[in-house]
Amino acid sequence: MPQKPKSKFNMSKKTIFRRIGEEETNYATHHLYRYPGQFVPQIPGFLIEKFSKKYDVVLDPFCGSGTTLVEANLLHRNSYGTDVHPIARLVTKVKTRKISMSNDELITITNINPDFDDFDEIAEECKKFEYSYLFNRENLMPLLKLRKEIYENYTDDIRNFLLVCLLSIVKSCANIDEHKVRIVREKKDAINVFEIFKQTVRVNLKKLASLNTDVFAEVLNCNAKKISLDNNTVDLVVTSPPYLNALNYIKIHHIEMALLNERADEKNYIGVDKVTDGTGSSSDAGKKLMAIEIYFKDMENAISEISRVLKSSGVCGMIVDKDRKIKNVRFKFASELIERAKNYNMVLEDKFYRYATKENKSEGERILVFRKI
Ligand SMILES: C[S@@+](CC[C@H](N)C(=O)[O-])C[C@H]1O[C@@H](n2cnc3c(N)ncnc32)[C@H](O)[C@@H]1O
Repeated sequence: MPQKPKSKFNMSKKTIFRRIGEEETNYATHHLYRYPGQFVPQIPGFLIEKFSKKYDVVLDPFCGSGTTLVEANLLHRNSYGTDVHPIARLVTKVKTRKISMSNDELITITNINPDFDDFDEIAEECKKFEYSYLFNRENLMPLLKLRKEIYENYTDDIRNFLLVCLLSIVKSCANIDEHKVRIVREKKDAINVFEIFKQTVRVNLKKLASLNTDVFAEVLNCNAKKISLDNNTVDLVVTSPPYLNALNYIKIHHIEMALLNERADEKNYIGVDKVTDGTGSSSDAGKKLMAIEIYFKDMENAISEISRVLKSSGVCGMIVDKDRKIKNVRFKFASELIERAKNYNMVLEDKFYRYATKENKSEGERILVFRKI
């Protein structure tokens, strides 16, 4: 089992130059589910180690796949995560909860006979499945059979774990390039879905073994603009909010959401351009600029909530977008958020960079460290 590597960032120069290789991020439960926009775990790990102590409470209000909560667990901190996306909440729960499956439970789900006796029922489900056109029937049938078995035979943490195992293989079973965020068609042969699922379950169960059990990790179903935690209860916030119009978390997870029979409510999402499809100014440039203002207003509301739940002198480490030109206007995301945060007693204390490469410094993300005064 890969162990958490020692920190290799050169923080003394206030700069993170090095690109962290994919293989270095594959420890504990971090790669249990591939979530677009996932943190390099070494970043929350560094911030948690530097700005909190054992058994403190860490919060990530945009927790995505739970990288902050996993790092908090590995460092013996309690944690809360919130996200509006159902898949994000499910994945975070699974990645932070140690479970054990009895041999019987494991055998029931991993030894499904490919000639299953409810074939006609599953074939009917297959016809109804919204994205069936993206699958060979030979691949979709076992996926839907596994879904049925999971819902019928398991509950609570084990059901969640098995569902995430299923979700983590669904795109590689579809006729699409599973490495792309958008749907790009790519023909696939029939594959042994049951065997892939079985391997995934066994590998992921081993990953859960690296989790600690002396701390809690709780996932809350709430919007970062209204966090359901009391005032002054959190020691440290570590988060990477969505970037403006960068990744559409609803579209990215369409197939997985259909598999869970879930629907996402677009209006709750920050960073999704809400102006270009209807209301607002008539010109294209005007609409874009309005979307940017909505983004900053949403982020301001989230920062106000972060400030409310943080204890006095608590720290918030936040990864923000690099400066970008939108409709010929240069937006300095970090500077804008630093200014707005001051309205909520959040004052910039430090700033780090993560450059994609040592040579190309313009591509870097900013890691802002605010302190509540
Ligand atoms: C950059 S991702 C976070 C990734 C995370 N750091 C990880 O390692 O997986 C941003 C997340 O913010 C979530 N999000 C968007 N709007 C939100 C809101 N209003 N409240 C809470 N979460 C939101 C998205 O669903 C997405 O999961």
